[in-house]
Amino acid sequence: MLKNSQKLKINKEHINQIKQSWSSQYGDSYQEGLHFLIEHLPAISKSVEEIVDEIIANKPVQQIIGEWPFYDGTYVINENVLIPRPETEVMIDHIVNNIKSCKNVLDLGTGSGCIAIELSKIYPSACVHAVDRSVQALEVAKKNNHQTPNKVKLYQSDWFSNIEQKFDLIVSNPPYVAHEIATDKSLTHEPNIALYAKNKGMSDIDHIIGKAKFFLEQAGYLYIEHGQDQKNKVQKLMRKNGFREIETHKDFSGKERFSFAML
Ligand SMILES: C[S@@+](CC[C@H](N)C(=O)[O-])C[C@H]1O[C@@H](n2cnc3c(N)ncnc32)[C@H](O)[C@@H]1O
Repeated sequence: MLKNSQKLKINKEHINQIKQSWSSQYGDSYQEGLHFLIEHLPAISKSVEEIVDEIIANKPVQQIIGEWPFYDGTYVINENVLIPRPETEVMIDHIVNNIKSCKNVLDLGTGSGCIAIELSKIYPSACVHAVDRSVQALEVAKKNNHQTPNKVKLYQSDWFSNIEQKFDLIVSNPPYVAHEIATDKSLTHEPNIALYAKNKGMSDIDHIIGKAKFFLEQAGYLYIEHGQDQKNKVQKLMRKNGFREIETHKDFSGKERFSFAML
């Protein structure tokens, strides 16, 4: 890794080395990944040899670049956090349109901090808390927590275990991929703790919906991202736990991706 001040000085030879390793790994497919990488080379603090090694190791282009755009910001990322997904941006859009103001916000499982930090920009006078069980993820979120003067309060917590107050809005993109499909090769470079949950991917969602009512103000909202086949279970859990006005919305590719409800 080069120091930040030692950004890569790129020449034609470097580009050729990168193109060759890319084509040895991906052939002619996934050219958009290569273009993205080349476009971002000037911002990468790594040697060409390191970049080539990472291409050969099949590392996602987002992790090679080391940062990724999300909503209205750009987020430092590494192998300890989920790569922020466009599906999650759709949930943020809905929150902005649905909730005009709020005082206290909680993001559960913050990873890179992308949801919490974007919400702290959208609600500049709200107090935004964000937790994660992973200390390594919190280190990444801290690096991203400079994008707005309304800094997010980041701390370690196993879901609600260290939460001591109530919120108007609780948001979470928890792990929801079933353990049974933990062999999905496209996910091998992201942390298991960010992706997989027991009970067909439902165990963390179940826990969060069950406990959220104790940490929400009356008429507060819970927003939760989930798998495309989990809508019925999520809605049932919300009903069982006293939530009302339950709705599920689709992501940009038409998959039922997040549900929300009022207490
Ligand atoms: C799907 S990732 C979401 C990351 C980020 N919010 C995003 O949308 O890109 C889930 C996050 O939940 C965290 N997590 C998993 N189990 C947890 C637990 N028991 N308590 C708190 N956070 C947890 C993971 O470390 C990971 O950062």
